[in-house]
Amino acid sequence: MSETELTSLQSELLTAIEAASDGAALEALRVEALGKKGKLTEMMKTLGKLDPDARKAMGAALNAAKDAVSVAIEAKQKVLAAAALSERLEKERIDVTLSPRPMGEGRIHPITQTTDEIVTIFAAMGFATAKGPDIDTDWNSFTALNMPANHPARQMQDSFYMPDVSDGLSSTEKRVLRPHTSSVQIRTMMGQKPPIRIIAPGRTFRCDYDMTHTPMFHQFEGLVIDEKTNMGHLKGCLLDFLRAFFGIDDLPLRFRPSYFPFTEPSAEVDIGCSRKGGELKLGNYGDWLEIGGCGMVNSNVLRNCGIDPDVYQGFAFGTGIERLAMLKYGIPDLRTFFEADMRWLKHYGFVPLDIPNPAMAG
Ligand code: DAH
Repeated sequence: MSETELTSLQSELLTAIEAASDGAALEALRVEALGKKGKLTEMMKTLGKLDPDARKAMGAALNAAKDAVSVAIEAKQKVLAAAALSERLEKERIDVTLSPRPMGEGRIHPITQTTDEIVTIFAAMGFATAKGPDIDTDWNSFTALNMPANHPARQMQDSFYMPDVSDGLSSTEKRVLRPHTSSVQIRTMMGQKPPIRIIAPGRTFRCDYDMTHTPMFHQFEGLVIDEKTNMGHLKGCLLDFLRAFFGIDDLPLRFRPSYFPFTEPSAEVDIGCSRKGGELKLGNYGDWLEIGGCGMVNSNVLRNCGIDPDVYQGFAFGTGIERLAMLKYGIPDLRTFFEADMRWLKHYGFVPLDIPNPAMAG
């Protein structure tokens, strides 16, 4: 081993150390140079064979080489550690400008919760959910529902008509913000063949505003069409639903004869309540509270939708979702549903996953 060889081995090692890409590669180089069987260690072992002068010179050169390699490894270790740290800091960076999102602050709006409950109960009775657009045709909203042109519900003060682009639009062209979900009955009957069993919740619009009316509100519609469906089915279906929804096993139900153009016969749906001491309480107490309308689908409506009334018959019902929510959850003023007041929502809203879900209750 000459000093020249030592110099070239040293510079080889230093280059490799400089190029090491991680801690493991560096450690391998350390073992290769300075380990028990390392190249420099092995060279130390050969010193004994040299004569004293050569041994002195070579020994000094070897020690210098070992020092240089150790210093280079140590320096490289620091560089690699610093690089690893900054890579981690980059990866685990926390964006302190992101505003905090406190857990559990959100609430489910009572309308959403009530709609879910209604749909869940009817789903258990075999009803599918149907949907229609908020803006619908005059035909789907009125004409097909057997509403003559002079029916009060068609007057401008009740319904929001879309501005006519031209005079003389036909009933299927003219559009209106639907004043009830009954339009989904028409869409469903025109789009599918009986048997039909649907529930249609959704937004509805009327030009009204007081304690119990807002221009935008929610309804749900039910429709069953089959060959032998009768009014007894209608009453049993509503009774089962209302008892399940309010959780009152003996809640009484009464049909009061009424008029709707799209049903014949038609009835108002009343449920039992008490108003003693000015406080409204639902149950079998002898008083009555109206909660919706219903009836057997008028044969004109069936015919308008291409369904043969000599083969098929069925029932329909409709009621306000806010009204049911107000009764079930003791909310006194309908207008507050849509004021987006966070204090109201915190009080009347539902914590996600904390919801008494009728589906889970079985
Ligand atoms: N569409 C009626 C309303 O908005 C509610 C209604 C009554 C719907 C009787 C029906 C029904 O399907 O049969 O006041």
